[in-house]
Amino acid sequence: MNTSRKLRIGIIGNGGICRGAHTPAYKRDPRVEIVAACDIVPGRAEAFARECFPGATPYIDYRDLLARDDIDAVDICTPNYLHSEIAVAAFAAGKHVFCEKPDAIDPAKAQAMKDASEKAGKLLMVMRNNRFADGSRYARKLVESGRIGEIYAGRCGWQRRRGIPGKGGWFTTKAQSGGGPLIDLGVHMIDLAIWLMGNPRPVSVSGATFCKFANDDKSDSVNSAFGEARSDGIFDVEDLAMGLIRFENGAVLQIEFSWASNVQRETRYVELRGTKAGITWRDGDYVAIHGEDEDQLVDIIPPGPLNDDGHTRNLRNFVDVLLEGAEPCYKPQQGVDMIKILAAMYESAKTGAEVRI
Ligand SMILES: NC(=O)c1ccc[n+]([C@@H]2O[C@H](COP(=O)([O-])OP(=O)(O)OC[C@H]3O[C@@H](n4cnc5c(N)ncnc54)[C@H](O)[C@@H]3O)[C@@H](O)[C@H]2O)c1
Repeated sequence: MNTSRKLRIGIIGNGGICRGAHTPAYKRDPRVEIVAACDIVPGRAEAFARECFPGATPYIDYRDLLARDDIDAVDICTPNYLHSEIAVAAFAAGKHVFCEKPDAIDPAKAQAMKDASEKAGKLLMVMRNNRFADGSRYARKLVESGRIGEIYAGRCGWQRRRGIPGKGGWFTTKAQSGGGPLIDLGVHMIDLAIWLMGNPRPVSVSGATFCKFANDDKSDSVNSAFGEARSDGIFDVEDLAMGLIRFENGAVLQIEFSWASNVQRETRYVELRGTKAGITWRDGDYVAIHGEDEDQLVDIIPPGPLNDDGHTRNLRNFVDVLLEGAEPCYKPQQGVDMIKILAAMYESAKTGAEVRI
């Protein structure tokens, strides 16, 4: 890329995550210029541009934004079902793509994004913000140095007591979201666990899903503010998913994700068991290593504060790759594998049997 000028980005989808996480990240990066904004709700892109990036041109149809030849990259912050469609169109228009998680709502759509990126020779990166938390980086360095040993088992989850996002809107409509907490939250913690495990290849999945809180309107999660609720809307996704993933190297990972369930409180976690030490990662700002030293059981716990602003760092990695030739933290095949795991979980929940990937 030409590094003598700023990276010119258009943001498509100007709702919660665009304003809450991407906007502050770009505002802090002087190498970036937001030149276009797009949202299908009339007036939304205009208001977003006026309030956040004066000078950015607002669009209602993303194809008009993609038709501009002075835009280097797009950042997709739309509902899940549009990620693949917009990414494929963006690659055809010669843009690099940053996309919010989950990669896509089914494996074929995730594969289509990867293929289009390769055909165009343009970068595809999908948000994996949890990899960039201080605690995650520390744990990963210990794994790479061999100090955790062979990781053969683990569990991860994101449990919410109450916290259904945008109830009745796109989040709870299977055709638009691809599923409930498994795809919404699972993509975060399963990715972090597998990344820390050294990216073993998943081979089978077994799981169950439940929907017991579709008529419950309470919330105790700030995260449930995402999306737009609709009282007359659809709720045809799960509110709890539990399962087990097996990997080619024999390792296993237990998983559990809920938007609503009767647990003590909201928590997100990864626990990994290695032959030399174990890792507990919790809520983005806590990590502990459990091992032995001089014949004693010992825990190593960095006192913190541990930075959990992974969104900013993930977006910075995208810019670093394009402008400075940095190594991308994410490989599109990891996205395809992730969506295959989630699809297999849904299939297993339906059939009651273990599903090969
Ligand atoms: N990484 C994270 O921590 C995190 C957190 C929340 C959401 N997300 C992801 O971000 C994405 C958006 O979630 P959100 O919470 O911001 O949802 P949201 O509903 O608040 O925002 C989505 C926006 O996209 C717009 N949109 C819909 N169709 C469009 C189209 N065809 N063209 C242009 N704009 C369109 C909507 O009008 C809305 O403004 C989702 O994929 C979600 O999974 C990620």
